[in-house]
Amino acid sequence: MRVTMIGTGYVGLVSGACFADFGHDVVCVDKDESKIAKLEAGEIPIFEPGLEGLVAENVKAGRLSFSRDLAASTPNADAVFIAVGTPSRRGDGFADLSYVYKAAEEIAEVMDGYTVIVNKSTVPVGTGQEVEDIIRKARPDAEFSVVSNPEFLREGAAINDFKHPDRVVVGVEDERAVKVMREIYRPLFLNETPIVFTNRATSELIKYAANAFLATKITFINEMADLCEKVGANVQEVARGIGLDGRIGGKFLHAGPGYGGSCFPKDTLALVRTAQSSGAPARIVETVVEINDSRKKRMADRVIAACGGSIEGKTIAVLGLTFKPNTDDMRDSPSLDIVPALQKAGAKVRAFDPAGMKEAEALMSDIDYTEGPYQTLEGADAVVIITEWDEFRALDLERVKSLLKAPIMVDLRNIYRPAEMAEAGIQYYSIGRPS
Ligand code: UGA
Repeated sequence: MRVTMIGTGYVGLVSGACFADFGHDVVCVDKDESKIAKLEAGEIPIFEPGLEGLVAENVKAGRLSFSRDLAASTPNADAVFIAVGTPSRRGDGFADLSYVYKAAEEIAEVMDGYTVIVNKSTVPVGTGQEVEDIIRKARPDAEFSVVSNPEFLREGAAINDFKHPDRVVVGVEDERAVKVMREIYRPLFLNETPIVFTNRATSELIKYAANAFLATKITFINEMADLCEKVGANVQEVARGIGLDGRIGGKFLHAGPGYGGSCFPKDTLALVRTAQSSGAPARIVETVVEINDSRKKRMADRVIAACGGSIEGKTIAVLGLTFKPNTDDMRDSPSLDIVPALQKAGAKVRAFDPAGMKEAEALMSDIDYTEGPYQTLEGADAVVIITEWDEFRALDLERVKSLLKAPIMVDLRNIYRPAEMAEAGIQYYSIGRPS
């Protein structure tokens, strides 16, 4: 199959490289000339484990190429994927669909022969229909189908998620397009991956419903964690105790500082807006959004409390800035609430993140960045772990204690056991567990 992928952001690049690895002929198109030049030189603009090698292998095999020019690849393509951004629209939280519509107009100009246009961007229900209308208006006689095929990739594990998904969802309105989509996902059919064929509106909603449900699960366990702290229970054991019930499932029950990232905050908000404007308000999701926002804002208070009620003039060491490990992505990261709140309370912040410091620098000011976890701790009054990077999981606790001015650790990801901290003589505050 010949595939054109519009957008070389996270979703487009990972999907394009994986489709090429499935054996398809893939051209990834982006308007950003410097991005294309970098990709052609073998440079990967995003941090994703395994992606650089996968891109290089498939470029070398002649199955993957990059271009600025949609007209060069689209006329021959069996399928054109739209994988452009749908950020939150400023002011109202609806998804901004201007890039999707622009892509539709551009495809209409250059497509030739029967083409399946596949929307991979996260878009509200009804967008597939609008894309179809845009193309139909520009090319009344063209032969094409518009399909919805949402992605469920997690940053940091995207290649594995793409190649071994729990399911693939395809929203499609005609048999001809079903055949093309089956062929594109052939290796997964052979692996017996469940492929959910449904209508387009359903597929579009599945994406939002999945993210909103996961965000709800996290928010639920975060509230249970707060309750655990009041009643002397242990949230990790609560999560295990409920998660072993197959109807609940153990995943996405890690209590923490609140969810962040490029997807959950934006998609929950967009679902809330769509539901409100459709006259079927999603009250649970509305509440989840509210609770999560306020949770992130409250996290700095834990550090202040651990330091005896004031951090004025103190130095706080921060380990981890990205919204989760194995990414350099800072979008809606809890650190963006926590660090400024610590600074506002009078603290000096010293921080280390294995991949996110460059991104962080553009978003926050007055942070002293260091070269490693131990350097961050030197002479600090307390340390707070915001992101659970592997390299923070096995710190030499004696060294930690000797470097800190006061042996105080606030672990917002529960990566240590309270008992080992007590033994090491560190005052340890975690989430939802008795210390
Ligand atoms: C999420 C979904 O997991 C993917 O399925 C989806 O494709 C993607 O959004 C998207 O819509 O593109 P991602 O944002 O990469 O993926 O990251 P997650 O691993 O889902 O984590 C999101 C946030 O939830 C992070 O801040 C993480 O720390 C937090 N989280 C996750 C918890 O606090 N507790 C958990 O148990 C799990």
